[in-house]
Amino acid sequence: MALDGIHGHPDDVVVTVGSQQGLDLIARIFLDPGDVVVTEGPTYVTAIGTFSAYQAKIVHVPMDADGLIPQDLVETLARLQAEGRKVKLLYTVPTFQNPTGVTLNPVRRADVIEICRRAGVLVVEDRTVSRHQSRSATAWHGWPASSRRRCN
Ligand SMILES: Cc1ncc(COP(=O)(O)O)c(C=O)c1O
Repeated sequence: MALDGIHGHPDDVVVTVGSQQGLDLIARIFLDPGDVVVTEGPTYVTAIGTFSAYQAKIVHVPMDADGLIPQDLVETLARLQAEGRKVKLLYTVPTFQNPTGVTLNPVRRADVIEICRRAGVLVVEDRTVSRHQSRSATAWHGWPASSRRRCN
């Protein structure tokens, strides 16, 4: 974790047998039936299956060559709120995204975290692929602790 720029206390770490188990634990702990999980569109297909298994609804936010589009995230959250739907999580793969391979632009990272902080939406950053691909891609450690969770 320190190599990823994360200096957490051992008490903050939960060891799992892979990202998939981490996602399953997050879903089990945080999701209630009918909750919405917002994700990049498209996203890692098995994560969709995991969240769906807990009866969450998946809502996709469009991406472009710089990753998740913050204005579309704002509009999606506003629409869902107006519909009375509970958005629990943003599940995001911001670095070497699966399946697109796109990496979220640094300016947008700050925008996305601020949008989610204001909306009270927990952010789940999945760094599985980035960790395999590159040690130089640091984690999203600038995020406020209140909204920061890691998978694996
Ligand atoms: C974005 C993403 N998350 C999670 C996983 C699964 O990781 P693990 O094998 O550690 O469960 C993959 C595997 O390809 C992935 O691409």
